Amino acid sequence: MSPQPGSPRQRAVFRFTQPIVGMIWAQTNQGVIGADGGMPWHLPEDLAHFKRITGGHPVVMGRKTWDSFPAKYRPLPGRTNIVVTRQPGWGSTPEAGGAVVLDSLDQALVEAQLSPGGDEVWVLGGGQIFAQAMDDCNVAVVTVINTDVPGDTQAPVMGPEWMFRGATPKEGWHTSANGTEYRFTLWARGETEFEAPE
Ligand SMILES: NC(=O)c1ccc[n+]([C@@H]2O[C@H](COP(=O)([O-])OP(=O)(O)OC[C@H]3O[C@@H](n4cnc5c(N)ncnc54)[C@H](OP(=O)(O)O)[C@@H]3O)[C@@H](O)[C@H]2O)c1
Repeated sequence: MSPQPGSPRQRAVFRFTQPIVGMIWAQTNQGVIGADGGMPWHLPEDLAHFKRITGGHPVVMGRKTWDSFPAKYRPLPGRTNIVVTRQPGWGSTPEAGGAVVLDSLDQALVEAQLSPGGDEVWVLGGGQIFAQAMDDCNVAVVTVINTDVPGDTQAPVMGPEWMFRGATPKEGWHTSANGTEYRFTLWARGETEFEAPE
């Protein structure tokens, strides 16, 4: 029998020992993170992982990622939700309810660090935001899903300054209750210190 989502065997435990500005995403083997404004898979175990990692910390995202969340699930509870848009006035629309809306990603990252739990800030994407924010980030928590499903949005390309620092499981894959194979990986830029995943 497959373990329940979030059971100890499937948890990736990352304990950071310095301020973190992290990115978190899930991708296919080819780096696809999105399709048609959503994610082309269903993986409850990854949603539980996402909640464990980001819970209690501010999150920063692009307006399209915000839009991708069903209205009843936003703002993400227990987290300051910061959304960036270039659309003047969008922050006053009903769609923006519950978000802190800013027109600058730099400003969003500063605002996040000043928000409750801002010793760890999590950038949620999507593709546009990862590409712009990655030089300001020191950690990436990446779920790799063992699928080649196509999509229209890609994970950021990580340069040689990004180093693989561990995975859960160390080898191979977890298997979801729905049969999907996946693993949690951790990447860090430069000398970022943290305790490796268990
Ligand atoms: N697999 C994963 O882990 C994951 C994570 C997140 C998202 N996704 C997927 O990725 C897709 C969305 O990604 P995306 O790249 O299309 O969009 P996105 O990065 O979520 O949002 C882009 C929007 O953010 C705003 N924006 C971008 N740069 C900005 C800046 N410098 N200053 C102010 N505003 C800025 C603009 O909003 P306006 O147009 O309003 O001006 C822009 O259209 C969806 O399919 C989603 O499901 C997947």
